Amino acid sequence: MPGRALSGVPSVSAKSDPPVLSKSDPGSLELRLGGTGQGAVADSVSELLAAADCPSVRAQNYTQMSMSVIHRKRLIRRLLLHHLPLLALSAASVSLFYLARPLRDVITRLSFATAYPALMLIAATLLIGPWNLLRGKRTPISSDWRRDVGIWAGILSMIHTVVGQDVHLRGRPWLYYIYGPREVHVFPLRHDLFGFSNYTGLCSALLLLLLLATSNDYSLRVLGTPRWKQLQRWNYFTFAFGGAHALGYQAIEKQKIPFVAVVLASILITVVLQTIGYARRRQITLEDRPITDRKSVV
Ligand code: HEM
Repeated sequence: MPGRALSGVPSVSAKSDPPVLSKSDPGSLELRLGGTGQGAVADSVSELLAAADCPSVRAQNYTQMSMSVIHRKRLIRRLLLHHLPLLALSAASVSLFYLARPLRDVITRLSFATAYPALMLIAATLLIGPWNLLRGKRTPISSDWRRDVGIWAGILSMIHTVVGQDVHLRGRPWLYYIYGPREVHVFPLRHDLFGFSNYTGLCSALLLLLLLATSNDYSLRVLGTPRWKQLQRWNYFTFAFGGAHALGYQAIEKQKIPFVAVVLASILITVVLQTIGYARRRQITLEDRPITDRKSVV
């Protein structure tokens, strides 16, 4: 697989990397010198170790070392500049929503308190690209910041999903999706507003889980950029299902206006900025084309 540029990572594919040669691993030197049984095996370990001093071997080891330094630096940078602030932001907003309404118990409160920050963080992942475009910048295919915001959206959504299964019908979460024995329906899957809200929530949660599981360099390498990007586009549906689920529940619970406004504002801002971003991207693509091509498109 050809090396591709990840943000902050040089485009060196792990598969195409030559074996690491080190003094502590003479076996690797043997590999370099021809391998056992191929006639080019060095006589002694000391000879092999001497080979480690040759410039090409040193250069290779140096590349490997600098790669691991880059990886470590990137990880530390992400932890300090992304994950710590996102942890603080998540904790603050969950606490705020937790205290905002005196709901009946901890489960209901925790479900409520994680729901809104989760939805807003998913919205944020969809706003980063258009926002950068408006500032005249292009977001790389895989941006660490967007990925890390997505990871926190996923964490909060998963907490909400698990806790949310227990808000109603305690201990019988399957009744969120099918009618109970005393509710007589020809079609057993719930097809009322409660069912709609639960199925849309479930779709959103499952998609999020998929996106969360593939939000890493390994998945990007294995899938290849086009397929990985295609997979990540399901984020639009994650948000759409999450928004529909939230509005459904707000209707069921006759939620207070300020909370409905939060959901509506998240949806509206996302739709407007995504539309502007789409138009801007189209314009940039057109400008990048030769003038003769442009005429045929317009
Ligand atoms: C199977 C998955 C899910 C279940 C069972 C579930 C459950 C619930 C429940 C019981 C409520 C109403 C009680 C409450 O306020 O907590 C609710 C509301 C809500 N959920 Fe979920 N949820 C799921 C997935 C999601 C996901 C993935 C998101 C994030 C996008 C989300 C965002 C919301 C929002 C914003 C509300 C509105 C809170 C309100 O005003 O009642 N939910 N969910």
